[in-house]
Amino acid sequence: MTQRTLVLLKPDAVARGLVGTILARYEAKGLSFAAVDLRTIDGELADQHYAEHREQPFYPGLRAFITSGPLLAVVVEGESAIAAVRALNGATDGIKAAPGTIRGDLTTSGSRNLVHASDSPQSAAREIALWFPELA
Ligand code: CMP
Repeated sequence: MTQRTLVLLKPDAVARGLVGTILARYEAKGLSFAAVDLRTIDGELADQHYAEHREQPFYPGLRAFITSGPLLAVVVEGESAIAAVRALNGATDGIKAAPGTIRGDLTTSGSRNLVHASDSPQSAAREIALWFPELA
């Protein structure tokens, strides 16, 4: 089934010059991009995007990081795109992420972990509507 999912190339990915490398991995898998936008977000959007994490002890640091500089918001489209992107991204913690995945190959961090992707059809719909209301 063709799906859309919301992907963020986080400020560490942009600052490290990894945008092309990461987007190429999605393209190589056969996925495509329905929308792409480079932007620096404010705390309000961070709070909405990460609503389920707001009570976590790590949230203040995550909020500061995700608002710290430009990120690339992308709507990725393709066959089983939600699962496909999460498989390509790898586990949240770069140390535990398998080699061959984006995080496994490109970061040792569990917080500055380069990418975010929607984890279900429900979160994809919510996140796409939040980041790209013109697509919802
Ligand atoms: P993401 O997929 O964007 O979803 C929530 C984010 O919280 C996650 O990637 C990490 O960037 C961050 N995160 C998750 N767990 C931790 C943790 N234990 N410490 C710091 N940051 C975390």
